[in-house]
Amino acid sequence: MQFTRRASRTYDKEFLLRARPNRLSETSSKSAGSASKHGESSACRVALIGFGTVGRAVAKILCESGDRTLRLTHICNRNVERKKQPWVPSDVVWTDDVQAVLNSDAHIVIELIGGLSPAEQIVRGALKGGKSVVTANKQLIARHGPDLLQLAASQRCRVEFGASVAGGVPVLPALRTGLCGDRLHGIAGILNGTCNYILSRIENARIPFSEALEEAQARGYAEADASEDLDGGDARAKLAILALAGLHTRVVPESVRARTIRAIDAVDFDYAAELACTIRQISRADLKDNTLFADVGPCVVPTDSPFGRVQRNLNLVLTSGQYGGDMAFLGAGAGGDPTAVAVVSDLMFVAQSLAAGTGRDVASYVSTAEISSDFETPWYLRFFVRDQPGIVARLAGILAEHHLNIDSVLQKPGCDKAALPFVITLEPCRDSSLHPALEKMSGLDFAVRPCLCLPILR
Ligand SMILES: NC(=O)c1ccc[n+]([C@@H]2O[C@H](COP(=O)([O-])OP(=O)(O)OC[C@H]3O[C@@H](n4cnc5c(N)ncnc54)[C@H](OP(=O)(O)O)[C@@H]3O)[C@@H](O)[C@H]2O)c1
Repeated sequence: MQFTRRASRTYDKEFLLRARPNRLSETSSKSAGSASKHGESSACRVALIGFGTVGRAVAKILCESGDRTLRLTHICNRNVERKKQPWVPSDVVWTDDVQAVLNSDAHIVIELIGGLSPAEQIVRGALKGGKSVVTANKQLIARHGPDLLQLAASQRCRVEFGASVAGGVPVLPALRTGLCGDRLHGIAGILNGTCNYILSRIENARIPFSEALEEAQARGYAEADASEDLDGGDARAKLAILALAGLHTRVVPESVRARTIRAIDAVDFDYAAELACTIRQISRADLKDNTLFADVGPCVVPTDSPFGRVQRNLNLVLTSGQYGGDMAFLGAGAGGDPTAVAVVSDLMFVAQSLAAGTGRDVASYVSTAEISSDFETPWYLRFFVRDQPGIVARLAGILAEHHLNIDSVLQKPGCDKAALPFVITLEPCRDSSLHPALEKMSGLDFAVRPCLCLPILR
């Protein structure tokens, strides 16, 4: 019997018995008497928990696909009655009982309820019961990914989370398989579509931040409380997952510095343009020896660079490897359908692994590293000051005291003298060298807003 068309592997009972001696033999015999109308009894059985935006799109693909290798057996959601759809085959069990799903004969559980609890308990319960798991849950994997990978490996099953970063962009599968032969040392990305939408709107329309945010909210690109997006919490959770999958490094999301985009002003795009640059929220992680340099926040990037060209709510991830060099992954970072494609692709991958008896994830080793935000980089400093003589001299004096070299001073003519914006760019220096100078500048009487300090990524 054919189990998967792509790999042309046989769904040989022997294979499955080797992979999970007891449970799979039990479940195979349990299901033998209940051959499906829409799938063969030899299909890999999958149960879906969470029938929301992504869950519904996943179910659609599974139900519409002529592919008989994956068979949807359960759809589980709280208050499930209101969720029922006529396009779902009648032999799929609708339930609001999670435990019934965990006790079922499904080979794979898809977790799409989101959040930490009860998603964590569900995923652990499934893995402990010998079921593989596919999830799109960024929070769960960012926080518990290393442990869940370990649990899955010990149970000889898999946990896949390809949709948890960059939605439909297949960067995580690439890191976990296509690039695992390289030794990656750097990952950088535009990982938050909300921030990219807002920044590219300010760039293109020169509107204030507040207006761009309102527009993003009206169009459904930003939540009513968008703090997680704007202040970098969402992106750093994704960076932690990329570091886990690509750099094999355990990163607690909160250990990564996150800087907000709220302070970005339309005038910053004018000054950035003078440097042939623009501004994007960039998440980056560089592994050097046993230190992971990591940071999330707005950065000045060349307009003609891959990051500079990313518009609207798209995502882009760049990886750097010792042998393979640089790679780029671009596409829709969210949305029910693109995310569902990533989930179903994970399902197919897990099904192939189980059929081949290779449930264990060879790339599941993880090490720890010291986390630092002390990058060495050129800097963009933007000031809003009450105009008066001697301002540049005082700022230059403070920078000189701290052995920091000015690269350029930019000032647009004709600005409001009560809140005059101007920019100083610095030659490369470490964050830790710049910080004391910024502290000193924050006390200056002519400043009308805190200095905006952005790394310049060349
Ligand atoms: N949407 C995207 O573009 C996207 C992109 C990438 C990753 N993701 C991730 O995908 C996952 C699902 O996202 P989504 O957008 O589909 O969320 P969603 O639309 O809110 O769907 C979640 C579903 O789970 C149900 N649910 C929540 N808690 C439950 C519980 N304790 N027991 C049973 N059912 C429960 C919800 O029921 P109710 O209807 O009662 O609320 C809802 O139907 C999340 O982890 C999210 O971060 C989403």
